[in-house]
Amino acid sequence: MSDRVIIFDTTLRDGEQAPGCSMTVEQKVRMARQLERLGVDTMEAGFAIASDGDFEAVKRVAKEIRHCTVGSLARTKKLDIDRAWEALKAAKKPMIHTFIATSDIHLEHKLRMTREQVLETAVEHVRYAKQYTEIVEFSAEDAGRSDVDFLCQIFEAVIDAGATIINVPDTVGYAIPDEFGRLVRYIIEHVPNIGKTVVSVHCHNDLGLAVANSIAAVQNGARQVETTINGIGERAGNASMEEFVMALNTRQALMKLNTNVTTQEIFRTSQLLTNLTGMIVQRNKAIVGANAFAHEAGIHQDGMLKNKQTYEIMTPESVGIPKSELVLGKHSGRHALGQRFKELGYALGKEDLETAYKSFTKLADKKKEIYDADLIAIVQDEISEIPEMFEFASIQVVSGSELTPTATVKLSKADQEFMDSAVGDGPVDAACKAIDRITGIPGRLTSYSIHAVTKGKDALGEVLIQVEYQDRSYAGRGASTDIIEASAKAYLNAINRIAYAGSKSKSGGPVSEKL
Ligand code: KIV
Ligand code: ZN
Repeated sequence: MSDRVIIFDTTLRDGEQAPGCSMTVEQKVRMARQLERLGVDTMEAGFAIASDGDFEAVKRVAKEIRHCTVGSLARTKKLDIDRAWEALKAAKKPMIHTFIATSDIHLEHKLRMTREQVLETAVEHVRYAKQYTEIVEFSAEDAGRSDVDFLCQIFEAVIDAGATIINVPDTVGYAIPDEFGRLVRYIIEHVPNIGKTVVSVHCHNDLGLAVANSIAAVQNGARQVETTINGIGERAGNASMEEFVMALNTRQALMKLNTNVTTQEIFRTSQLLTNLTGMIVQRNKAIVGANAFAHEAGIHQDGMLKNKQTYEIMTPESVGIPKSELVLGKHSGRHALGQRFKELGYALGKEDLETAYKSFTKLADKKKEIYDADLIAIVQDEISEIPEMFEFASIQVVSGSELTPTATVKLSKADQEFMDSAVGDGPVDAACKAIDRITGIPGRLTSYSIHAVTKGKDALGEVLIQVEYQDRSYAGRGASTDIIEASAKAYLNAINRIAYAGSKSKSGGPVSEKL
């Protein structure tokens, strides 16, 4: 049996459907490019029939991504499969992923179908999908709670109908590792034509066991694992890609299994997702959390100084976490900056480098020491997946315990400057209201978080927010040594996304009046 485990990434589908994780088409395309760089084998780009936005996202990703299989989810319905194919047909390696539930509880209460009807429907639609593309995955939804002999029967039938991947989802995150491993082994041992297909698993994290269950599955013969970046997904999420991959990597000698993932791209991918969605990972999250490689206890620090292996089972460099060493100073030139960006994996064009250089010199005036994390914050400020209608120019805030907070914001739009002031409950509220007055887009701030990018009182503050507008949620990000400015930039970033979505839907977009 091969020692290669296929990574099927569903960040753009199962991940994106979770509250607070929605992405625009452009954000999905940007994420897809990074997933390709990361080295996932397959990416599920969306559920084409679910909405026009999903359809467009699958279509754009299918057109652009050349090194991964690109898939769309489809129920066992001809309309779903037709729509999936319509979106996927430009893909180099298109995959239709069709599914139907197999557990009795779903059959009785949701589908109101008999097992025979479910089996017939599954076979008919795998055959239907197969006329479009060679790669067809069939998922038995709620397999974790399905009758195992019925599962074997349906898998045998869909493999005969042409399914090249059969997927065993623990849809409700109910399984326990040992039990789930045995289920996978049973399927492999009891489906006679199993050799013609890849056995996949898709685990949810309701009991915090999604990664453990996925590991048990590969130890019992599964060779595809469905994961998401940062573990985002329905309810408690899906198996986290970074945790699964690093478990295989770190315990290679024990498990003898490999993936195609370039682990040094993990941190960047995780950060990009956080920046695009505004969904932060908890500090103690394995692999990518801010504390994942921080050693606080004196006894640990002492051990680390003597030999890192005393308390470190993998290095931060192996997952691409930038070194926290001083990298550049006020007098560093464009060339040194460009070189450092290159080492960090950002190949900036001339124009982007010039903009980044300006931000760098501004930052160096305010902050004595510039670290890799600062440079990443700068570059993430500069690179946007959409054209920004409004650019931030400046902010002035008057605030204090005895004063009514007032903010005056200056923005530019197509080389014209706009300025307005507003009062608010606090300086951030006042800044957002001033931005609303200029842009004409009254967003509702629904989530706000701030953290220091590096240590020290002069550290860059990075703000991640979510803004609701007309029943949709938009993420925003901003960084500055001044946290009110960072907040205003983050809010404006979300407003620009709203403005762009408005201009794309040709609803006229927002209005803004010159002062
Ligand atoms: O959790 C699940 O069962 C799914 C399927 C559609 C694979 O997401
Ligand atoms: Zn799922």
